[in-house]
Amino acid sequence: MDSLKQYAPATQRNREPILEVLLRALPKSGNILEIASGTGEHSLFFAPAFGPRQWIPSDPNPMARDSIEAWRKDSFVDNIQPKLNINAASLSWGIEEQELNITTIVNINMIHISPWAACLGLMEGAKRILPSGGILYLYGPYKQGGKHTAVSNESFDQSLRSQNPEWGVRNLEDVIKVAEEKGLIFQEKVEMPANNLSVIFQKQ
Ligand SMILES: C[S@@+](CC[C@H](N)C(=O)[O-])C[C@H]1O[C@@H](n2cnc3c(N)ncnc32)[C@H](O)[C@@H]1O
Repeated sequence: MDSLKQYAPATQRNREPILEVLLRALPKSGNILEIASGTGEHSLFFAPAFGPRQWIPSDPNPMARDSIEAWRKDSFVDNIQPKLNINAASLSWGIEEQELNITTIVNINMIHISPWAACLGLMEGAKRILPSGGILYLYGPYKQGGKHTAVSNESFDQSLRSQNPEWGVRNLEDVIKVAEEKGLIFQEKVEMPANNLSVIFQKQ
């Protein structure tokens, strides 16, 4: 099982500052759906801080789902649900009819490493799943006012686009616009280490 575990070193660096924001900004009840959990290391670190509420990891990539499961099985954390297979861009996430009591959706470092359709789908999905007052939490690098906020983000953007022309660092105002069109109202942005932002929306 260990061989299925993947490691993303960035999670070690960003997990504590992210947790600090999550603890302050998330609703005090209800379960947390993570879209694009990646290796699953974040789930393992964040879930204990919210127990007995359930942390529900997901990823469309089968290798990521294997890794999430490998980390979960080996841990003593008892409030991580089995991983789901969710592609944010899908018209249905397959859980809309389930009573999962999800009041928060967390999405870390996805919308610049996926086509814009994934961001649109994330907002559509959050509209379908979240109750009024529910929170959508995003983390990642953003342009602001159409401009990069750091040279490192500009180089990162170029490298993303060279890997896939549909990827790239998004403009924060564009993300806020599509969120608000779905009734997800921008609450705040928080400056994070390494020129990233936490961006928080609340469902109307
Ligand atoms: C850079 S990784 C970030 C993973 C994790 N959140 C982290 O911070 O380590 C990007 C993740 O987005 C996932 N992803 C890409 N496109 C997606 C989509 N359309 N819907 C959901 N997840 C997606 C990938 O499978 C990958 O696990």
